[in-house]
Amino acid sequence: MVHNGQRFSLRSDGQLERLTFRRPTKIHAADVWELIAKCPQLDRNSLYCELLLCSDFADTCVLAERAGAVVGWLSAYRRPSEPATLFVWQIAVHPEIRNTGLGKGLIMSALKRRSCQHVTHIKATVTLSNPTSGLFFAALARDLGAPIQQALWFDRQAHFKGRYDSEYLLAIGPIECSP
Ligand SMILES: CC(C)(COP(=O)(O)OP(=O)(O)OC[C@H]1O[C@@H](n2cnc3c(N)ncnc32)[C@H](O)[C@@H]1OP(=O)(O)O)[C@@H](O)C(=O)NCCC(=O)NCCS
Repeated sequence: MVHNGQRFSLRSDGQLERLTFRRPTKIHAADVWELIAKCPQLDRNSLYCELLLCSDFADTCVLAERAGAVVGWLSAYRRPSEPATLFVWQIAVHPEIRNTGLGKGLIMSALKRRSCQHVTHIKATVTLSNPTSGLFFAALARDLGAPIQQALWFDRQAHFKGRYDSEYLLAIGPIECSP
């Protein structure tokens, strides 16, 4: 929710709280790691991996803070072979404040950065066992005025040796609306 140019989340008691979107630093990696632990839908990466994201990939990753606590996280990078594409790796919103626009806000915040000024497409992979992610990206595509396409990307048998569900690539773009 945006009010007078600032972002807010709606608390269960109906009060609005200020949210801050920022570039992460190494100091945030452990908090990100703990937030992801609250999202069983997501793979828990090593803390070292989160440290790399919060340092080497900080220009395209976004942290959401509420009263100093990390409540949202977007890990993303521009694809080396396709720099106009922002690849969204993980997106996590604290369970208590979902469905208040924070997830979309994280991506919009990344797209507004100088590091993403030439981004025309967003890609992400989803599993069919997590329908929320498909609905989320469909809503994002609608808001960005962009078509969305889906195709098998990492196959359960061929790539995961049967250990994980197949991942489908969602391609959103070209983006028509400014974020
Ligand atoms: C997926 C996730 C990041 C969405 O974050 P969020 O802040 O709740 O999403 P938003 O409030 O920005 O909602 C954006 C859109 O997605 C839709 N959406 C979000 N969660 C939904 C749900 N559980 N069921 C149906 N639609 C949902 C919203 O209705 C909204 O659509 P709208 O613009 O038409 O209103 C959050 O649910 C989450 O952290 N889930 C656990 C981690 C996960 O599964 N991540 C994978 C995503 S790739």
